[in-house]
Amino acid sequence: MSSLIPIQFQTFDVDMMAQAEGRVAIIISDEGKMGPAARRANRLTRGAVARLVESEQFEKVKSGEVITLAWPGGMAAEALDILILPRRPDVAEARKAGVALAKLAGGKALLVMAANQTRSEDLAMGIALRSYEFDAHKTKDSDPAATVTIAHQKSDEVEAAFAPLYAIADGVRMTRDLTNEPANILTTTEFADRLAEMKDLGLEVEVLEEDKLEELGMRTLLSVGQGSVSPSKVVVMQWNGGDKGDAPLALVGKGVVFDTGGISLKPAGGMEDMTMDMGGAGVVAGTMRALAKRKAKANVVGLVGLVENMPSGNATRPGDVVTSMKGDTVEIINTDAEGRLVLCDVMWYAQERFSPVGMVDLATLTGAIIIGLGHENAGVFSNNDTFCDAFLKSAKAEDEGAWRMPLGAAYDKQLKSRIADMKNVGGRPAGSITAAQFLQRFVKEETPWIHLDIAGVASVASETSYAPKGATGWGVRALSRFVQDNFE
Ligand code: BES
Ligand code: MN
Ligand code: ZN
Repeated sequence: MSSLIPIQFQTFDVDMMAQAEGRVAIIISDEGKMGPAARRANRLTRGAVARLVESEQFEKVKSGEVITLAWPGGMAAEALDILILPRRPDVAEARKAGVALAKLAGGKALLVMAANQTRSEDLAMGIALRSYEFDAHKTKDSDPAATVTIAHQKSDEVEAAFAPLYAIADGVRMTRDLTNEPANILTTTEFADRLAEMKDLGLEVEVLEEDKLEELGMRTLLSVGQGSVSPSKVVVMQWNGGDKGDAPLALVGKGVVFDTGGISLKPAGGMEDMTMDMGGAGVVAGTMRALAKRKAKANVVGLVGLVENMPSGNATRPGDVVTSMKGDTVEIINTDAEGRLVLCDVMWYAQERFSPVGMVDLATLTGAIIIGLGHENAGVFSNNDTFCDAFLKSAKAEDEGAWRMPLGAAYDKQLKSRIADMKNVGGRPAGSITAAQFLQRFVKEETPWIHLDIAGVASVASETSYAPKGATGWGVRALSRFVQDNFE
């Protein structure tokens, strides 16, 4: 497990600059305006900053980018990072500027002379998000987590504004850790244990074991995990920060700790990526953590189905018919279409037990969504325009890509089974949509519902705007904002 980079706030004072070690960052507005920190740095470096600002090189630097003076004479720091930023950046601009600084800092102390920069809390958020590193299994000492200091004229105000963002960053960190963790470490039991630890944050956490799931009739979920030595579990996390008795928002996550495909075995090449098939459950966990840490004034319940999809003598076969908790029967044509079998039972349980005001499920559900949307947008499916638009707005405000996809009765027909109520696959055409149609069969008419297919965005091979390679934590920020803007 990794920890979040420490970030401290101090009252801005130009005298801090000369002796600061590691890296010092100053901000110059995109009009080339030098503030007090830039003027002091210029004096210390005998005019080097002004020469840079007047140079041709400076004209090519875009807003949000950094140019570096290495070993600036007259300063103790090993680098002076000059960040170009509008006086009033939007949230994404400010956070991306923080990302740019964090990428350079790599293990070094960083002093950001923010002066009176607006959205300095978002600058700090960018630093927090991009300083993440998954080094749990590196035996060689990696760089110690550097400290970051933000020097601001109103440091108390910035620090207060940053507190909820830091809570969210810690949720993102948790999601990334869970999603990056290999499957021999993050078994269903280990996953449940890590969630149970969040009781310390004031969350109510229950772990439902196999006997209980059996009793509830969650046969489709159990059918996925029955080939594994790791026991299937459902974990329920409740955050009751809202009015007592108010129906909660429900978040439901696919937590397949490893997806071999089962008897419908996946090819060997790339199978190692299926350690991230619990990414939906990871986002639910990270969001619950963020809500608890920022003490959200809303009732939210997070439910995750934790299973491992393995082939074995006891595994589900193609052709098997199982009965869901709802009572509908499913002919399992392909054991690799397992996510929907996990979700349908957990979603039904969530509605039966909590009658939620709305339900959002998250799942690394289909390879087809990657073909359709790549790694830039999650697929969004919904039965309710108002509910869906509100989520899309939150995702946009957090600069997390989300694109709505269609649903419809014609797609649903692809799930018709000769011998049961439905098949678990709908054939090659519109694979992500038929997966969503399958889920919708387990959504009650009156429940506003959003399905997020995050197969393309949960973990990516190259860095993104806010994350290094690997798990991104996509969705924690959007969902936290969705809760804040609609349920608090
Ligand atoms: N976990 C996979 C989907 C996936 C693929 C996630 C690539 C992340 C990256 C899912 O369980 C799966 O195997 N889906 C199948 C469905 C098919 C059998 C109908 C797929 O997409 O091929
Ligand atoms: Mn699968
Ligand atoms: Zn899967």
